[in-house]
Amino acid sequence: MENSLKSHIGNKVSSWYRDHGRHNLPWRKNITPYRIWISEIMLQQTQVNTAIDYFNKFMKRYPDLKSIKSAKEDDIYALWSGLGYYRRASYIFRAKELIHKDFNGQMPDDFNSLLSLPGIGRSTAGAILSIAFKKPYPILDANVKKVIARIFHKKKFNEKEFWHLSESLLDKKGIFSYQQGIMDIGAQLCMPKKPHCALCPIQNDCISNKLNSYVTLEKRKPKKKEVFLQFNLFSEGEKYFLSKSDDLGFWKNLWIPPVSIVEKCNFDIVHQLSHRSLKIAFNEQTNIRPDIEGKWFSREELKTIGIPKPISDRLLLNG
Ligand code: ADE
Repeated sequence: MENSLKSHIGNKVSSWYRDHGRHNLPWRKNITPYRIWISEIMLQQTQVNTAIDYFNKFMKRYPDLKSIKSAKEDDIYALWSGLGYYRRASYIFRAKELIHKDFNGQMPDDFNSLLSLPGIGRSTAGAILSIAFKKPYPILDANVKKVIARIFHKKKFNEKEFWHLSESLLDKKGIFSYQQGIMDIGAQLCMPKKPHCALCPIQNDCISNKLNSYVTLEKRKPKKKEVFLQFNLFSEGEKYFLSKSDDLGFWKNLWIPPVSIVEKCNFDIVHQLSHRSLKIAFNEQTNIRPDIEGKWFSREELKTIGIPKPISDRLLLNG
């Protein structure tokens, strides 16, 4: 496909966004580089619908770079509680420290400075530059990859080809609308099984639509390691005993009940992490006191600290 044709695609995407994009998403209102940064970190591994409440809660507590300046790492973990991929909370903590130390408390607006911050890779840098600063940088997340694979009707690309195509499609003058438009087309129209091609602004440019054959990118699924965990729920009245998780190899810095890793056990729930499948058993341990370091938390306090989702779901089960 010629370059002029590709930028023509970009124009259609940005003008479609202006009329049909999801303008109501909270990070698309009152746009600041800080708000775009936090939302993009959340959206790296979290679906839009789940991210909305977390984003609003985060912005209520820390609306801007100034207000997050003196936040402690634990404060950010607490806001991340339940969202998963907790390393992101630590990245935000470390990045805001650097922004205040090295960038005068302002979100940097150049590619290399952004890339130097923890948690920001090429695609997130591209999203921040294009949405917050209106600079024509490409992004490459799962949705954009899907749309590109569909347009060109190919099952396999290497990363370099993907980046090249993502860049070639940009509407550089309308980059703000283009970038969000291509994500919205990926999320709302270009569905995995039954895409809504009749509504798509680039239906006539899309080889998959012409052939009526909708390729899906081949995903390599890693075989996850099973980990069996037995949690001992020590309770006293309305309080639960928790310690800081340090040596599981995941959930670092989060609060969890005393736990043993066992070879195998009957389990109550399964919880998926990116590389592990956790098989979790809960043992109620009333009237016994734990002999490890930790703290007792009331139900109200449990809501203010960082706890992994399957644990908080269980502890806050009744009300
Ligand atoms: N996924 C990643 N970034 C996004 C954004 N800004 N809007 C919607 N979905 C996204």
